Amino acid sequence: MLEIRNVHKSFGKNEILKGVDLTIDKGDVVVIIGPSGSGKTTFLRCINFLEKADQGEASFGDIQVDLHSATKKQIHQIRQKVAFVFQNYNLFHNKTALENVTEGLIIGRKVSKTKAEDIGKKALNKVGLSEKYNSYPSELSGGQQQRVGIARAVALNPDIILFDEPTSALDPELVGEVLNVMKDIANEGTTMLVVTHEMSFAQNVANRVLFMDGGVVVEEGTPKDIFSKPKKERTKQFLKRILAEDYTYYI
Ligand SMILES: Nc1ncnc2c1ncn2[C@@H]1O[C@H](COP(=O)(O)OP(=O)(O)O)[C@@H](O)[C@H]1O
Ligand SMILES: [Mg+2]
Repeated sequence: MLEIRNVHKSFGKNEILKGVDLTIDKGDVVVIIGPSGSGKTTFLRCINFLEKADQGEASFGDIQVDLHSATKKQIHQIRQKVAFVFQNYNLFHNKTALENVTEGLIIGRKVSKTKAEDIGKKALNKVGLSEKYNSYPSELSGGQQQRVGIARAVALNPDIILFDEPTSALDPELVGEVLNVMKDIANEGTTMLVVTHEMSFAQNVANRVLFMDGGVVVEEGTPKDIFSKPKKERTKQFLKRILAEDYTYYI
């Protein structure tokens, strides 16, 4: 359904992505793990044209594009298929939860206001915010704001949702409610590509895990492959470190 080939990206002299490949089938939940600075965010941003890759190809269903030289029309077509959930929610502060969710439908998709509100309310209900349609972001907790961010993505009915560390800006006690919502939508068959440090999510919800380091995919496999029998030394070291951190965090 989504095939990405040979993505390269440099910022100045720093080569951040050194030829990243990824194939995602319909219904897959693919989790990318890896140390900070390894290029995970840059990779997601290149897929959605928030960043222009130096090189790379992608096919989204029947649309094939060059990630460096895609036309505005192609970018627009692909953005109809791909939604993004940001680390810092990226909500409009002067709009209510419902307005945040309907904005993209009304402006980007030309859906009527009434229809958009109907879709938006259903999406907010799905993330457990049926009481918060008219609340502004400042009146919501971080976990609730991120659930609005997820509802906004779901409302667009995309082929795939990209999540960039959706829980890493949250206080620890709010992480669970967001992960539960993500788990629910994964169980409904939503195709998802998720960058996260939440190893339990990777282990329990993903059907495939990629370990990225230094701008390349070092290793990929099922959660069992990666967590129980990693082959590469870099993967082993990373897991040892991050699982130890998780452990100290829970005791
Ligand atoms: N817009 C930018 N300009 C310059 N350097 C950037 C930019 N965005 C990211 N980088 C650099 O690229 C590297 C990878 O960043 P990023 O993709 O955010 O990694 P990750 O998400 O894995 O932590 C980092 O060294 C970061 O400083
Ligand atoms: Mg990042």
